[in-house]
Amino acid sequence: MSGNSESLENLSTENRSFPPSSAFATQANASADLYAHADKDRLAFWDEQASALNWHKKWDKTLQWDSPFAQWFVGGQINASVNAVDRHVAEGNGDRIAFHFEGEPGDTRTISYAQLLADVSKAANALTEIGINSEDRVAIYMPLIPEAIVAMLACARIGAIHSVVFGGFSADALLSRIQDADATLVITADGGFRKGAAFALKPLVDEALKGETNVANVLVVKRTGQETAWNEGRDIWWHDLVNRQNPTHTPEFFDSEHPLFILYTSGTTAKPKGIFHTIGGYLTQAAYTHKVVFDIKAETDIYWCTADVGWITGHTYMVYGPLINGCTQVIYEGTPDTPHKGRVFEVIEKYGVTILYTAPTLIRTWMKWGDEFPNKFNLTTLRLLGSVGEPINPEAWMWYREVIGGNNCPIVDTWWQTETGAIMISPLPGVTATKPGSAMRPLPGISAKVVDDRGVEVGNGHGGFLILDQPWPSMLRGIWGETERYKETYWSRFPGIYFAGDGAKLDDDGAIWLMGRVDDVMNISGHRISTTEVESALVSYEAIAEAAVVGAADELTGQAIVAFVILRGGTAHADGDALVKELRNHVAKEIGAIAKPRQIMVVNELPKTRSGKIMRRLLKDVAENRAVGDATTLADPNVMKLISEGLKSSKDED
Ligand code: PRX
Repeated sequence: MSGNSESLENLSTENRSFPPSSAFATQANASADLYAHADKDRLAFWDEQASALNWHKKWDKTLQWDSPFAQWFVGGQINASVNAVDRHVAEGNGDRIAFHFEGEPGDTRTISYAQLLADVSKAANALTEIGINSEDRVAIYMPLIPEAIVAMLACARIGAIHSVVFGGFSADALLSRIQDADATLVITADGGFRKGAAFALKPLVDEALKGETNVANVLVVKRTGQETAWNEGRDIWWHDLVNRQNPTHTPEFFDSEHPLFILYTSGTTAKPKGIFHTIGGYLTQAAYTHKVVFDIKAETDIYWCTADVGWITGHTYMVYGPLINGCTQVIYEGTPDTPHKGRVFEVIEKYGVTILYTAPTLIRTWMKWGDEFPNKFNLTTLRLLGSVGEPINPEAWMWYREVIGGNNCPIVDTWWQTETGAIMISPLPGVTATKPGSAMRPLPGISAKVVDDRGVEVGNGHGGFLILDQPWPSMLRGIWGETERYKETYWSRFPGIYFAGDGAKLDDDGAIWLMGRVDDVMNISGHRISTTEVESALVSYEAIAEAAVVGAADELTGQAIVAFVILRGGTAHADGDALVKELRNHVAKEIGAIAKPRQIMVVNELPKTRSGKIMRRLLKDVAENRAVGDATTLADPNVMKLISEGLKSSKDED
């Protein structure tokens, strides 16, 4: 299990507990009786949550469960963008700010719900004009600018399925996602701003589209104004097409089970999985969890989720959840240390942010930078803090509470996945006495358990595998085009039960402590990357014969990628540091900069069992500077000695 031994040890010693203040509890959206209410009749509970949405036609049946295939709110008809935008304008809240956008260079935009409705309507009309409809998939490859959100909502409005590809992914990664979803349109930007400079995106789209695709058009937002190569007949400027459109658009309504989006995530093989979600169930759980976990008060809160729109957190807790709940958000394009290490805190002060949702890796980075940065700014508007993406170590949790939250904010450590679509395990901020480092218990309406390898529930004080044994509204409906893989990946380890891929422990009070992945998936700064994906990228480099990759514990990023490679005899290649540098760049080109290994070791042999399986566990011991564990099953027991002795650090900082 990954990088979380601290939590393990901690289980026996962690006895701190932080109940919400009575002032917070009194005003909270969710009270303790919600658990019993949901338990009494789970489906009736979800009916109630779904009723908070605007349906064009009400559903006939709450759940149709043909394991492992779920349909929720069967027969209902709904439009996601109407729920996110139109309804607030119709209810007289058109003047409310939807987004305070903060560009990295300091440019800002303030977008009201009325403005957002006009923008989404124009974009929907534009997509219709170029022939996009509910049969299409649209790839969105953008920086975090308002148009990315407008593009998603415009797709949703006309029933086109969006597939957002994180702007940090490479041209190759983009191409494979375009191909897998068979997208017909790419929406992108000339570039964006990051680390104080403009970066280019459009050239990567051009590069990707040299591959075989059915993409007919590329719609390009002008963000940076940099020189941009143009493919006449295919490329269209967003401002040329969208700005001249009618700002009203009559929405169509779609079946509750019509797909809303595909989002690719890493699995245990080199090919990413196209997780897809459908409208009714996804929106229901997105809105419900956002309301109860973040205690949203739409009229007064200023909410900021620091995720990028390219990840599930951006989808659920920046786009759909918060917009459905009509709240006012901050969105920020750039990096947290540009132009200075206090940028996030400065933005909190500037807009009076009340709720902050971020990732442990950033919290640990802030800790490293020092308290002087947060201390320079007024953070007293904050009233609730959230964490997501990886286990948060108790030390970071306490620092978050004390230095960012001024000991005054409940912390919600939220466990969920791209596949679950929305939060599954989390404290309720006005109810739960939280423990630093624990996600505590499943939300009302959700059933999650910890089981042993036979699928039997473990008792308090024991560890095992985290499973979900009841369908939930925002569950993935499948892997795009890969039904067998869907069944095999999630439903075969424990037949009929969803296996999340995480290890977990129950403490003596039954609180859940997440222990990291138990499969070959790494978690780098809260982002999933599979070991095989990186291994394939490495061996696609000519000089590499074989590669093994492990996720090693890392103080800042949770886990970091450590690779062991064997060189191919007879090929010319750079030596030593130069080779390592080339390899790291090669992985960045194949997958994206987030997948660059922290360390690459050139070795002569890899530890293999007699049947030829690489023993990653042993490599992980080396990568984490531990004594190497039991190596008796190795074909050649000397290998580990050689690797350990040859451990030559090739750590790189960028
Ligand atoms: O291992 C768990 C970890 O992130 C995985 C899901 O990754 P992804 O689909 O990219 O979604 C991340 C954002 C929801 C999980 O299988 N994870 C996520 N949140 C937590 C977590 N691990 C521990 N504690 C969390 N709060």
